[in-house]
Amino acid sequence: MPDTRSGERADSPRVLFAVAELAPWMKTGGLAEVAATLPVALRVAGVDARILVPAYPGVREALRGARVAAEVTQPGGAYPPVLLLAGATPAGVPVFAVDCPTLYARGGDPYCDAAGRDWPDNHLRFGLLSKIAALAAAGLPGLEWVPHILHCNDWHTGLAPAYLHFAGTPHPRSVFTIHNIGYQGIFPRDTLEALALPPRAFAMDGVEYHGKLSFLKAGIQYADALTTVSPTHAREIQGEQLGFGMGGLLRERAAALTGILNGFDTEQWNPATDMHLVQRYDSGTLEAKAANKTALQRRVGLPVTDDMPLLGVVSRLTHQKGLDLLLAVARKIRELPAQLVVLGSGDKALERQFTALARTRRDRCAVIIGFDEALAHLIEAGADIFVMPSRYEPCGLNQMYSLRYGTPPVVRATGGLADTVVDCDETALASGTANGFVFTERTPQALLAALGRTVATWRDRTRWRQLQRNGMRADFSWRASAQRYCELYRTLVVAA
Ligand code: ADP
Ligand code: GLC
Repeated sequence: MPDTRSGERADSPRVLFAVAELAPWMKTGGLAEVAATLPVALRVAGVDARILVPAYPGVREALRGARVAAEVTQPGGAYPPVLLLAGATPAGVPVFAVDCPTLYARGGDPYCDAAGRDWPDNHLRFGLLSKIAALAAAGLPGLEWVPHILHCNDWHTGLAPAYLHFAGTPHPRSVFTIHNIGYQGIFPRDTLEALALPPRAFAMDGVEYHGKLSFLKAGIQYADALTTVSPTHAREIQGEQLGFGMGGLLRERAAALTGILNGFDTEQWNPATDMHLVQRYDSGTLEAKAANKTALQRRVGLPVTDDMPLLGVVSRLTHQKGLDLLLAVARKIRELPAQLVVLGSGDKALERQFTALARTRRDRCAVIIGFDEALAHLIEAGADIFVMPSRYEPCGLNQMYSLRYGTPPVVRATGGLADTVVDCDETALASGTANGFVFTERTPQALLAALGRTVATWRDRTRWRQLQRNGMRADFSWRASAQRYCELYRTLVVAA
């Protein structure tokens, strides 16, 4: 475990990292991983980073017996009183949990009930998270710790910079990171009062968005600095198509916006030590990877064979991930030839379509609907090829895991996929930079052509090995990106 204590020297910048998900206690996607791992890297780099998260049942359970650090009896508006619990993550990062059972003690995930319906009081659930973030940032009696920077993440914490702005009192600087611009936290205008925002906040240059209130817009409008999770995506979101309605505002704020690529936990995702694999390996022992393919085929009920490659997908099943393209070409998988394993959950229509696919093509396609961390690791190791045809992908962690696991990815050229995957053309192969396959057009034909190229290359064992090793060599740890966040924090603190 990295030594995270260096973050607590007297001169360390203090950063409160406010977020709606935190692995392993509450995870629906990459946001939870970033929340669990970036603060670790920040602390190693000398930043006193602490996390603020809602006390969902899993968080409460993990923090059982934790100290009550503060009590907020009147957060304002329609917010109920809360306790702030103080504990630490498994990696040793201090965490404050917003304990408010009426809003957070429920099953399901942070955003939806078990049937996939949005919680009807999401504005209050995440309004409260934002409110407590802003109060804690300005200094809460009992907390004995006041940050220099409030680092907010995605729409769930987007109101916090607005609260700081309208409080008018001296307050720390804020950073707002956009992990997923497709989710915006838009609520009816009449929630303004319950959220304890002043009527003047409801303006074009405030939180108003087409007659409604947008948490995402609030974050973009009022944070001192904006980031997103890859350089390419920082450009994309200033455009019409991938700006999701925020392109104009983001262009106005372009000087405050940077793209910083995510890293990941290279101890947890390491094929040489991964306990979820049946055989561990590194770039010098790639033959050992094959045992994981066999184990995966057995585990998901596919015929055990090495005559054709096994394509792997681990994903939230949402429109964003472009998996409808994969469904559209699925009947050609026999002709490639290849097998396919899909692990995912989310959109009920996509779940049904993938389940139907597996039923009709049992010999070639296996589909597991659900969230399964252990199986996700086995797929990264046991598949030959990883598929990510995303419509947009702010960063993407799975393609980076697959590079590390010697499982070259086939990706669409967007966001972090474009920044991490180098297409296997002759020049890139010769220069040792090729590590996967990239296609551009958002069509089934383009995906199929890329898969065709990939399968043909897989048959050339020498080239394939080279491609695998190129991917495995890259450094996707947080080190470099954590440094970039540190620089950003320092610039903001100096400018304050
Ligand atoms: P996003 O955040 O858009 O979902 P990322 O690629 O950044 O995409 O991160 C996804 C994370 O969630 C990865 O850690 C991935 O392994 C994990 N994940 C997604 N779906 C599942 C699933 N069904 N089972 C296990 N892990 C999953
Ligand atoms: C988002 C994005 C994904 C990114 C993750 C963590 O949910 O969809 O691309 O990797 O957040 O930043």
